[in-house]
Amino acid sequence: MNIKLMQLQKHGDERGALIALEEVRNVPFAVKRVYYLFDTQQGVRRGFHAHRVARQMAVVVRGSCRFLLDDGREQIEMLLEHPAQGLLIEPMIWHEMYDFSPDCVLLVLADDYYNEQDYIRDRVIFQQLANDAAG
Ligand code: TYD
Repeated sequence: MNIKLMQLQKHGDERGALIALEEVRNVPFAVKRVYYLFDTQQGVRRGFHAHRVARQMAVVVRGSCRFLLDDGREQIEMLLEHPAQGLLIEPMIWHEMYDFSPDCVLLVLADDYYNEQDYIRDRVIFQQLANDAAG
């Protein structure tokens, strides 16, 4: 599956820790948008979509959450629980997020502005498009 969990370099000393995200250097695209999810209520599951072309990187700057990732052929589950983990979500990956810890702040960097046209929100259509792409 076209999913990469990147280990981000942590600059730490006795004062604490710092992680820098720099476009192209450790975020493998030009960043047009940053958004973050917080105060996610217990038991909530969200996402339920894939992007046609947008690339994204997700980081839990605080707390933890789980991802379900599906490329139309296989499904994997991923736990993000440390701010030094950068989850790269490429286009045509169906994703759902769940098991948010109450303190979770999920930061997402994207290579394009918000565009509803880029969303595939119907899982059946997603599966058809994934099958078509696989030939
Ligand atoms: P939504 O797509 O439902 O979130 P998710 O799929 O991650 O569960 O987005 C919630 C609302 O926020 C929806 O009205 C669209 C809006 N939104 C923006 O305006 N800009 C953005 O960059 C994103 C991701 C969402």
